[in-house]
Amino acid sequence: MTELKWWQKAVFYQIYPRSFADGNGDGIGDFIGMAAKLDHLVDLGVDAIWISPHFPSPQFDVGYDISDYVSVAPEYGSLEDFKKFLDGSHERGMKVILDLVLNHTSHLHQWFIDSRSDRNHPKRDWYVWRDGKNGGPPNNWMSPFGGSAWEYDAATDQYYYHFFLKEQPDLNWRNPEVRQAMWDAVRFWLDLGVDGYRLDAIGTIFEDPSLADHTSKLSQDDLRRKLKHGFPYEGDQELLDAWDAMYKLQVEQPGVHELMQDLRRVLDEYDERILVGENDDVSYYGNGSNELQMAFNFPLMKTSRLTPNWIRANQQERLSLLPPGAWPCNTLNNHDASRVYSRYSDGVHTDAIARTSAALMLTMWGTPFLYNGEEIGMSDYRLTDISLFRDPPAVWFYKHELEEGTPVEQAVELAADYSRDRCRTPMQWDDSPNAGFSPAGVTTWLPLNPNYKQGVDVASQQSDPGSMLNHYKRLLRLRRQTPALVDGAYIAVNENAEDYLAFLRRSADGKQTCLVMLNLSAQVQQADFDLKGYTQARCLFSTHRPENGALHLNGLQLAPFEVLVTELIS
Ligand code: NOJ
Repeated sequence: MTELKWWQKAVFYQIYPRSFADGNGDGIGDFIGMAAKLDHLVDLGVDAIWISPHFPSPQFDVGYDISDYVSVAPEYGSLEDFKKFLDGSHERGMKVILDLVLNHTSHLHQWFIDSRSDRNHPKRDWYVWRDGKNGGPPNNWMSPFGGSAWEYDAATDQYYYHFFLKEQPDLNWRNPEVRQAMWDAVRFWLDLGVDGYRLDAIGTIFEDPSLADHTSKLSQDDLRRKLKHGFPYEGDQELLDAWDAMYKLQVEQPGVHELMQDLRRVLDEYDERILVGENDDVSYYGNGSNELQMAFNFPLMKTSRLTPNWIRANQQERLSLLPPGAWPCNTLNNHDASRVYSRYSDGVHTDAIARTSAALMLTMWGTPFLYNGEEIGMSDYRLTDISLFRDPPAVWFYKHELEEGTPVEQAVELAADYSRDRCRTPMQWDDSPNAGFSPAGVTTWLPLNPNYKQGVDVASQQSDPGSMLNHYKRLLRLRRQTPALVDGAYIAVNENAEDYLAFLRRSADGKQTCLVMLNLSAQVQQADFDLKGYTQARCLFSTHRPENGALHLNGLQLAPFEVLVTELIS
């Protein structure tokens, strides 16, 4: 295998700290809990961990509203606990990246408290303050988390800008002091030995300086009511256009590339640290070496059904946009999105479909990011009692609907469609009360999905060779042992097949070519391949047939939802 960097070879695993493991019995995940579960990750076979924000936060956006960038949220433990977790990960050969929220702070961060205290305070310009217009906000910009993107502050008679919640004021990144302060925080964790950052919401860092009104014809209420899971899906052109018209002056503005280059220079003061961007726009790789190392392939997940044509079109577009030398990065779920197990379900073959999407992640070209719980087939848990909702935009939406006169039941349904709580419920470790997440009798911060009593838990799946957990472990092992699956180029084959996806991965040294086949249908598919010089393949992995057997590449019958990974034999 050609020499790849660690992050190109790695499989990442996202830990949502609040929901992973509760070490002190308060119903909230923490570092003691996380450290105690590291062997699960080793056993699974992952190489690196991304933890969602672990910093002090008033939790208006479950940690994405940070009030201090250089310490640990007390409910997650102390800096010592963090270091033990970091050392424990490193000792086991796993890297750790943190979440870096640049766009905004908490409204309770000292920087904002100072900024709002006085128009003449030196930190005033660290945030985006503007005078109102005609007795209202400076313009009609909205926050996708609800309502106007401007909040009036009576103390100084001006409005401040917030793309997300009003408790998440946007920093003014045009002010060089902001950079300095944030880069100091970045260095603090790099000095402690963390291996890099996942960058939150970099597309929203700058706004159009004209502050011109948006021109969307659809009202924000209408737009939001139509959204499932918070963002528009494929094919819904009206919603995609309305979304774009509403927010385009607030996202993807000039300046981000230069900022990312500056941040990359900070990272490069250290060895082998990385930046992974939360951004649909693949151009944020810069030239592949001076901005981010990777940006998530979010367009792939913006569908309610993973079809062969969708995946092929995604790969064709995405890979052609990659700047030379850049490296892809794939994911199908995270703490913001409906879980794969539920999202791609057809209501009948749910488990089999989830197994094909796991196989896709672990055989595609690019670094995969898994989300805690997907390895045991955790599903969305839809809350129906509004008092249990914790996702702030969903709660805002519910209250707003009531104000608009929507009946309570309907308001709850709309909020539940939108709420991210569904994918954030605690990790299911075993089938004891509270699923081994918290001690029995403790009220957990979000309710557990009761399906931990029906085999959706780590402990019972360990010993079942046919479990989802063992499916993931086998796939991770396959990837580790198969160079072409890590460094091999992606080559689409049989592109007219409607129901199955097939592609080659050819290793960079040319020594190995794998043919990956995923039957994404409930019917048997006959697949014939015309692959110059190759008529046979060896089975490396199948959900339906023994490994190592030889297969003919003509008249191959793929069982319903079969995953078949082979190595071509010349
Ligand atoms: C993206 C994060 O993933 C999401 O959870 C958060 O609410 C927003 N950025 C704002 O920080």
